Amino acid sequence: MTRRIAVIPGDGIGIEVTREATALLEALKRRARLPVEVVEFDWGAEKYLREGVSLPSGALRMLEREFDAIFIGALGDPRVPSNQHAADILLGIRFGLDLYVNQRPVKLLEAKLCPLKSRSEKDVNFVIFRENTEGPYVGIGGIFKPGTAGEVAVQEDLNTRKGVERILVYAFEYAQKQGLKRVCMSDKSNALRFGHGLWQSVYGEVRQRYPAIESRHLYIDTLAMEMVRDPGQFDVIVTSNMLGDIISDLGAQLQGGIGLAPSANLHPGRVSMFETVHGSAPQIAGKNIANPMAALLTAGLMLDRLGFSNIGMEIERVVAEALRQDCVTPDLGGTRSTTGVGGWIRERVLQSLQPTQVM
Ligand code: IPM
Ligand code: MN
Repeated sequence: MTRRIAVIPGDGIGIEVTREATALLEALKRRARLPVEVVEFDWGAEKYLREGVSLPSGALRMLEREFDAIFIGALGDPRVPSNQHAADILLGIRFGLDLYVNQRPVKLLEAKLCPLKSRSEKDVNFVIFRENTEGPYVGIGGIFKPGTAGEVAVQEDLNTRKGVERILVYAFEYAQKQGLKRVCMSDKSNALRFGHGLWQSVYGEVRQRYPAIESRHLYIDTLAMEMVRDPGQFDVIVTSNMLGDIISDLGAQLQGGIGLAPSANLHPGRVSMFETVHGSAPQIAGKNIANPMAALLTAGLMLDRLGFSNIGMEIERVVAEALRQDCVTPDLGGTRSTTGVGGWIRERVLQSLQPTQVM
């Protein structure tokens, strides 16, 4: 059965690196008979400025009905200082489709890229599960006396039993299925007694259902420190929305940089969305120097999820090979272009796959 993929290139370098991901998908389709169909949507700053439309009405239902996966490029453009279109599109899809799992693998593919001394590939290999539909991201709040000396801003932090439980269960189930031994839950319950107190009590219940898994809790500040001191102690980390946002950028650096970090937004049984962890980087947009590796690894994560795990593994293997051979863009100290690196990886992935391997 053909998998239908909605592609939203987004803004800035999002557009450039997404082009490399779609070129890979199209080549896999043409030359290795990968059964995919790619449909592009021009949602982003350009359309928002032109037509005032961010996420078109009916878009969520259409994505849900007609697609198996969504691939989204980074959103953000200096001409839209409020970033309203990005909130509407990215957060609109995460919340609107209830994609409550944000899976962010942290895997060092080439030891020389790790900023920590004497660490190798085996020391940095874990997954962060970030709650993706609650926390301060829900947008509940308001401003009182705006623009005055007495201005007050309130931003609520939403935590529900259902929301906390399902992300914890997902993380434990993932560990169990993947044969991983250690799950670390992180929050700030020593300061946020109510919201993260709920994380504590639900965690206390959920962990008991998984006696074979070694579970522990770290406050988020300690976790940040431990991720740097000894990243090898983690298999699975699970945390709330904003804390997960912050530590996933820390994780991205441990694996060699934000240009290498893929992610998936999931709700089991529903259409999922795949995105790079990096942003639209307007300052380097249009120069053909953005690193396409995160986008290609994200495509791999998506194909893995769509049932083509051999291709996902192959993409990862070839990206590691490119890193080893210094076939890299300037962010990693190289001189190659976005299209140069993208093409190099694409050709090698194609060469290694026989048509029959894909089906
Ligand atoms: C991310 C990004 C987004 C987030 C922004 C753009 C709203 O930083 O995907 O990590 O905070 O979730
Ligand atoms: Mn982020």
